[in-house]
Amino acid sequence: MGLSSSFVSVLLISSMVVLGFYTGVSETQSTPTLVKGLSWTFYKSNCPKLESIVKKHLKKVFKKDIGQAAGLLRLHFHDCFVQGCDASVLLDGSSSGPSEQAAPPNLSLRAKAFEIINDLRALVDEQCGQVVSCADLVAIAARDAVSLSGGPEYDVPLGRRDGLSFATENATIENLPAPTSNTSVILTSLATKKFDATDVVALSGGHTIGIGHCSSFTNRLYPTQDSNMDKTFANNLKKTCPASDTNATTDLDIRTPNVFDNKYYVDLMNRQGLFTSDQDLYMDSRTKSIVTSFAINETLFYEKFVLAMIKMGQLSVLTGTQGEIRSNCSALNSVATFLSTVVDGDGDLSTEF
Ligand code: HEM
Repeated sequence: MGLSSSFVSVLLISSMVVLGFYTGVSETQSTPTLVKGLSWTFYKSNCPKLESIVKKHLKKVFKKDIGQAAGLLRLHFHDCFVQGCDASVLLDGSSSGPSEQAAPPNLSLRAKAFEIINDLRALVDEQCGQVVSCADLVAIAARDAVSLSGGPEYDVPLGRRDGLSFATENATIENLPAPTSNTSVILTSLATKKFDATDVVALSGGHTIGIGHCSSFTNRLYPTQDSNMDKTFANNLKKTCPASDTNATTDLDIRTPNVFDNKYYVDLMNRQGLFTSDQDLYMDSRTKSIVTSFAINETLFYEKFVLAMIKMGQLSVLTGTQGEIRSNCSALNSVATFLSTVVDGDGDLSTEF
């Protein structure tokens, strides 16, 4: 009996080792580490209803258009990858140059996502005053976008401050990999932010919701069709995008486009990933087994996605007395104050200006 139970344990442990080796999923810790200055209870005393205010509003927004969830999730990614999660992506351009928003990778962010953040800003300010940063609102909105689309629920550390500058066009392009990139490029690019292969595959799972424009994937259709693309899938994409620059969109996840689930990985296994950066994750030996393990185990995907999102949400954050809490997420406080002094009662710029 003793012998047989220890035999079973050995068998179990060795099969776990073999499975771990096979899946290639990294054994990261199950509780995320917090960056200094962020906390799980940051607004507990000065804005205790923050998270319920945000969720209530987003529920209404998503009921009308669930597509907005994808827009908000992507906004947080684009904020964090360029100059850290400092809401710099929300800033309008100024005399110092065009904004991050104007850089090519950000041109396809949804205008409505910016509006939603400003609406949340107003709702939260009404209840709590100007204490919550725009960067935190973006992080909470992205989290709710995931859970309200059917994905995992999780806590986000809070206490980010809003940046006082935005990145240049070059810095924006350098930090946001193109959809035409292969896995080698993506792994190298994300390694500079301390993401490993498991993080990369998990974060790419964000493409389980939302849409892409023809120009983001027609490199795989014209002039020659990518041999790693399912033929029927390719023919349908050609109908949507008869030319490389057709201004149309298609779903990122053909199976369940509006549900945050693991079907994106099933798509990849069927060669129905939309971008090169998606499909190549299943073609590259370093990431293929991770894709498979997420396709067969949604709980594992959720666990790794949440850890990677919390890690992403803490990239180069400003905390404490750094930065500011913007009164208008689209403008620095100094600019917003200046503008309010030159705008007359009708909201028009005064003629003296
Ligand atoms: C790994 C590198 C990534 C690349 C190359 C990439 C690229 C892209 C591109 C090109 C689009 C479509 C743009 C368009 O044509 O309209 C897109 C959409 C999207 N991306 Fe990514 N992305 C990456 C990572 C991520 C991450 C980490 C997330 C979030 C966790 C994310 C979430 C989304 C979402 C939700 C959409 C749909 C947006 C919408 O419907 O408005 N992406 N991505």
